[in-house]
Amino acid sequence: MNNTVEIVNADVMEWFNRSKDVVFHLSFLDPPFNQGKDYRFFEDNLSHEEYWGWIEKVLAETYERTVEGGAIYFMQREKNTEFVLSALRETGWSFQNLIIWRKKTSAVPVSTRFGKQFQIIAYSIKGEKSRVFNRLRIQPPLPPDYKYDRETGIFVTDVWDDIRELTSGYFAGDEAIRSENGERFHKQQAPIALLLRIIMSSSNVGDMVFDPFAGTGTTLAVAQQLKRNSIGIDIDPDNVKLIQRRLKEHRHSDDISKYFDYYRYTDGLASILGMEGTQDTNRPKSKQATLFEK
Ligand SMILES: C[S@@+](CC[C@H](N)C(=O)[O-])C[C@H]1O[C@@H](n2cnc3c(N)ncnc32)[C@H](O)[C@@H]1O
Repeated sequence: MNNTVEIVNADVMEWFNRSKDVVFHLSFLDPPFNQGKDYRFFEDNLSHEEYWGWIEKVLAETYERTVEGGAIYFMQREKNTEFVLSALRETGWSFQNLIIWRKKTSAVPVSTRFGKQFQIIAYSIKGEKSRVFNRLRIQPPLPPDYKYDRETGIFVTDVWDDIRELTSGYFAGDEAIRSENGERFHKQQAPIALLLRIIMSSSNVGDMVFDPFAGTGTTLAVAQQLKRNSIGIDIDPDNVKLIQRRLKEHRHSDDISKYFDYYRYTDGLASILGMEGTQDTNRPKSKQATLFEK
């Protein structure tokens, strides 16, 4: 089966206006956070009302095109948690989890409060019951105070502390896409490991994954490898060109297969990965896997 990938250079609301017949099974929203960043194609300094009014429109249009039981993962700054939850509720979504993504990076220091060290991802669905929820099991390194190895790993919870953010330093490694001057091409590039977890948890092979703020196309790069269809929208033509190149290049650092071992105790893993009957899922398993290349 061949999967489709559609990359569109457009304003997302303008795209919604001319795309009434699309159907989504899973959406990932990582919008600009309205924090006054210097973007070329949109205003990142809207009033509170304008920004959240716009976000609600995007959520409502996404909801309308989502199948019953379909999922949305909406990523935001932790300080906006109350607005995220309210916007999802107002547009019809049923709340499931507030995922804390503790990004393995240093805290942002604040002198009058505790330093900030996580981002939120609100997971919601359309309707009462999720259409797909694959309970993933992982095998992270044993914490130092644990005596016995975990024979079959542990279920993923709502605290994700095993996925590193791609920051500017050396930790970003090869995965961060860089311009010729060595700077990161896009400061908000999400890690492959993050989208892998989301797409594995809430979709099946052949489903349609939607990303209205595609950026560097991480969602599409992962969906393509997991045999899901995808649609990505971005307003910046340079991002769209980059995504087209990224999807053709199949960079080693974008290859999701290095993470499979980490999820080896997940029931039905081969079918979640779209690899039933292929040799790769029969690879020898290592004792301890990690989400990060050594
Ligand atoms: C936080 S970034 C997303 C990063 C992405 N998750 C990744 O992994 O690279 C937000 C993106 O939204 C795009 N954007 C902003 N306003 C938009 C709009 N009205 N319609 C479509 N895309 C928009 C920006 O160009 C930017 O690339």
